[in-house]
Amino acid sequence: MEQKHTAFYQVSFPEQRLTWKAQAGTTVLQAQIDAGLVPDAPCGGRGKCGKCRVLLDGKEVLACQVRIEKDCEVRGCGPKKNQAHILNEGLFRKVPCAPGKLPESVKRPILAAVDLGSTTVVAYFLDGRSGELLCTRSILNPQRQYGADVVMRCSYVLEHGPEALSRCIREAVDALLEEGARAAGRSREEIVKVVMAGNTCMHHLFLELPVDTLARAPYEPKVKDAVARKASQCGFHIWKEAPVLWLPNIGGFVGADTAACMLAAEFDQREELTLMVDIGTNGEMALGNREGYTVCSTAAGPAFEGAKIACGMRGSDGAIDHVYLEEGEVKYHVIGETKPVGICGSGLLDAVFCLLKTGWITEDGYMKEPWRFTQEVFLCQKDVRELQLAKAAVAAGVQLLCRKRGCRISDIRTLLLAGAFGNYLDPRSACGIGLLPETLRSRIVPVGNAAGMGARLAALSQEEFCRAERMAKQADFLELAAERDFMDVYVDEMSFAKEDCYGG
Ligand code: FES
Repeated sequence: MEQKHTAFYQVSFPEQRLTWKAQAGTTVLQAQIDAGLVPDAPCGGRGKCGKCRVLLDGKEVLACQVRIEKDCEVRGCGPKKNQAHILNEGLFRKVPCAPGKLPESVKRPILAAVDLGSTTVVAYFLDGRSGELLCTRSILNPQRQYGADVVMRCSYVLEHGPEALSRCIREAVDALLEEGARAAGRSREEIVKVVMAGNTCMHHLFLELPVDTLARAPYEPKVKDAVARKASQCGFHIWKEAPVLWLPNIGGFVGADTAACMLAAEFDQREELTLMVDIGTNGEMALGNREGYTVCSTAAGPAFEGAKIACGMRGSDGAIDHVYLEEGEVKYHVIGETKPVGICGSGLLDAVFCLLKTGWITEDGYMKEPWRFTQEVFLCQKDVRELQLAKAAVAAGVQLLCRKRGCRISDIRTLLLAGAFGNYLDPRSACGIGLLPETLRSRIVPVGNAAGMGARLAALSQEEFCRAERMAKQADFLELAAERDFMDVYVDEMSFAKEDCYGG
């Protein structure tokens, strides 16, 4: 018995030309992680999502559910051939380059801005003297191997401690900084300042702060103020004295990324009533104008990124990204013009919208049988239910924000849609299924990666950084779950039968 537990087996990953010694009894998923392979594990290894499928000695298994008991061979475990399409562009305004005192010893200083999202990490590299954008680099967040959403990652940390998640993201950002400096034809020691944005969970995991208060009500971050660390404390191999500055958090899951979005969109100067919605793994929203603004976060869940959808995937080659009706027939488009292998968030919205129109899905979300695009790619009842939960969360958030600010939805003049998903979705479908109010359809302005843009402004200008701090302090945080009638509004929004829905 004793011997069995201390035994090690050879696990070979022929596609990566890698062999790893794994302790007997570890799961295949854990062996992949330990070997540095960054597998996808959206449900955090709970055996529920089916996305960690690999071939173990030729047999298909769920990597998170099978333990290693002998030498073996694992195939089909990435890195995925096709890079996900990551959104780097977005709302940007020009500000004077005034980053504060820069070291004289560094001749060509670089400023870096990092938007640390739950799914993707984007870094911008700017010339420290002219402010010019040198290059942009992005990766998928390697923490996804510990779960698709922040809740799963927090519960992983509560069970196993924060080290693994913190280490993996710091190393990934460090590598990204090196890659960006190289792409700009510079050396990484020339990076003299890094400004970071991300939701509160990403913030805490990066800084290795305890996440217990984020995992349980009242979901409060441990630290709200901006945080300054030294590069060496973060394990970054850049100019050794470089400060790493985190923008401030606001409250709950509304973090430095929302502060960055609000800075990019200048909520403190906007005259007209503006709603900003950033739908990612979480849904963050801000409503207001220069007279005041309220922010909230909804558990939109990772449905829009494909995590809980049977054939869900990110928006990369092979994903059905657009579904439409042509003479009453359901047609679709696939990214990369290839055979479809799954469906991404924008395709999911379109598909449900079309199937509602054809009557395949009823107003209460019921479907008699799955809808098949091909033999392998389909939409099933559970997928529709997941989408209903996510859309109800966002729609209820918008309603309660309006109530809090004492306005009607029709009073909102502009709806800024931030984030990759917001950029690719078809407003007709989003409004048609009731994810966003139909009244605002013509007022939607996609603004791309607003969080990245805000981080970029804060890196370029000290004044803009302070402005983000002021805005975060002034924002009124609304904890949806604590609102008395949240549940009623949420349940009500679950139906597709709202009067605004799927009329047009
Ligand atoms: S089923 Fe294995 S990670 Fe979800």
